[in-house]
Amino acid sequence: MTTPILEIRNLHARIEDREILKGVNLTIPAGEVHAVMGRNGSGKSTLSYVLAGKEDYEITEGEVLLDGQDLLAMEPFERASAGLFLAFQYPIEIPGVATMTFLKAAMNAQRKARGEGEMTTPDFMRAVKQAGTELNIDTEMLKRPLNVGFSGGEKKRAEVLQMALLQPKMCILDETDSGLDIDALQVVSKGVNALRSAGRSMLVITHYQRLLNHIVPDVVHVFSDGKIVESGDKDLALQLEAKGYADFDGAAA
Ligand SMILES: Nc1ncnc2c1ncn2[C@@H]1O[C@H](COP(=O)(O)OP(=O)(O)OP(=O)(O)O)[C@@H](O)[C@H]1O
Ligand SMILES: [Mg+2]
Repeated sequence: MTTPILEIRNLHARIEDREILKGVNLTIPAGEVHAVMGRNGSGKSTLSYVLAGKEDYEITEGEVLLDGQDLLAMEPFERASAGLFLAFQYPIEIPGVATMTFLKAAMNAQRKARGEGEMTTPDFMRAVKQAGTELNIDTEMLKRPLNVGFSGGEKKRAEVLQMALLQPKMCILDETDSGLDIDALQVVSKGVNALRSAGRSMLVITHYQRLLNHIVPDVVHVFSDGKIVESGDKDLALQLEAKGYADFDGAAA
């Protein structure tokens, strides 16, 4: 059997003495797209923060393997170099750093980690233009400081572009659909679908079944009270849309 891209085993995490993740188990094989749906406050974003290495959380139990490597033992920048990419629900703004500069630094850090040479500025500009054209993203906004004053939709577009350039192994998208207009939803879905490939896996956290019409997941998971309580195919999302989460409350208690 080939190594899954992401394997989460019995993950428990707390913040300020409150346990938020209560035994998450999730395996994402190479090439698959998994969706996670769940009530507000059930811990979905917490899971993405813990995977990214945000330091406010204490991991009390469990393990996470990224392509067979111990993810939790890595520093946040090492996780990114190892191929983990996160698009946050609320992308951070970095005043003073042009988005372009940030992207180039991020790309070169990853190349360095893979033992490749730095990308020249002309090569980088070409790559950005090409990705922008393919994904229908206006690259003008990349001259502005990272996410500063970007509209909600522009932030999401910038993240998709970043993802396309970095070519990560494991992409986690936390509610990349929230606040998107119809065109932006198409841009994000198109970007995600264009990146689907045999060696890359994705975890899409969403509240809306409608996103899953565009990005058709291989597996849908229901998250409730800090863990995954049910998994199924894409029809599970339709069932949730129709009936809500009540059927799953306490399902794995
Ligand atoms: N610093 C903190 N102290 C105490 N509780 C916290 C803290 N940070 C987050 N939480 C709680 O953790 C729980 C899980 O939050 P999380 O953001 O992971 O939920 P979510 O599933 O992403 O919800 P949503 O669908 O609304 O985005 C919430 O009840 C939240 O209030
Ligand atoms: Mg959230």
